[in-house]
Amino acid sequence: MKNPFDFSGKTVILTGAAGDLGRPITIAFAQAGADLALCGRTEEKLVKLAQETKRFGGQVIYSQVDLCNPKEVDNFVNMVCDRYKKIDILVNLVGGIIRKPSIDYQLEEWQWVMDVNLKACWLACQAVGKVMINQKFGRIVNFSSNAGMHGIPGYPAYSPAKAGVIALTRGLAVEWGPHGICSNVISPGFTKTPFNAEVLKDPKRVERILMRMPLGQVLPDDALVGPTLFLASDAARWINGHTINVDSGFNVT
Ligand SMILES: NC(=O)c1ccc[n+]([C@@H]2O[C@H](COP(=O)([O-])OP(=O)(O)OC[C@H]3O[C@@H](n4cnc5c(N)ncnc54)[C@H](OP(=O)(O)O)[C@@H]3O)[C@@H](O)[C@H]2O)c1
Repeated sequence: MKNPFDFSGKTVILTGAAGDLGRPITIAFAQAGADLALCGRTEEKLVKLAQETKRFGGQVIYSQVDLCNPKEVDNFVNMVCDRYKKIDILVNLVGGIIRKPSIDYQLEEWQWVMDVNLKACWLACQAVGKVMINQKFGRIVNFSSNAGMHGIPGYPAYSPAKAGVIALTRGLAVEWGPHGICSNVISPGFTKTPFNAEVLKDPKRVERILMRMPLGQVLPDDALVGPTLFLASDAARWINGHTINVDSGFNVT
């Protein structure tokens, strides 16, 4: 039996690749032999990450893309197709957060959080989905959050956006499953990354969160690597429309 975690010859697009959760996932795909197409906001971070992945022998291309801009997303996907002629896997890590009391939230802030988490994910799914439908194969892994399933104060845009990512992915699983495309979600819990810097500064809040994390630790930044590669792999061939909670058990407390 072929090793299902051998990604040699597979083309993987990662949006938000150079973010704190994206970096270790990108490197793991490179180690597993994949050819990579990386995008995000900041070119320097992409250049550095692309250099790190090159030593594993696969091909890598990258581009600075505003994933909220449909034209830029289309151009990027066209560039990937020109280079690799196919797209096997899309991993959508793009996201962002503003934490503040709902009563103080400005409409522009609310719209930005919705766009960067839900619209960007959707635009990438649509542009890549067209290619995957034509080739009759694809794996999509979208990043949601525990916040998409739980009431958390100060998240009036992030929570609905991440709930939207789950609903979007379920819909695509049903609509695109007949075309050989599996669409699934990773839902991370609380990780020790700059994304949570504000919360990590508040020991009482961290203690409250840890009371709901039975494994007793805030997740490390590489906690999502295995689950993401699994959903992208042939081992997950028959998993479609599912959400994997990677949260130390937060969801069942
Ligand atoms: N960290 C956590 O505890 C946690 C928990 C639950 C869910 N999540 C979700 O997991 C995903 C990754 O989180 P993370 O911790 O790695 O966050 P991060 O470090 O902030 O990474 C987010 C990525 O999205 C990119 N991005 C943001 N806006 C963009 C835009 N308009 N166009 C293109 N790229 C854009 C950023 O680009 P740059 O690299 O150029 O800045 C960055 O690479 C996110 O969807 C987040 O919501 C994270």
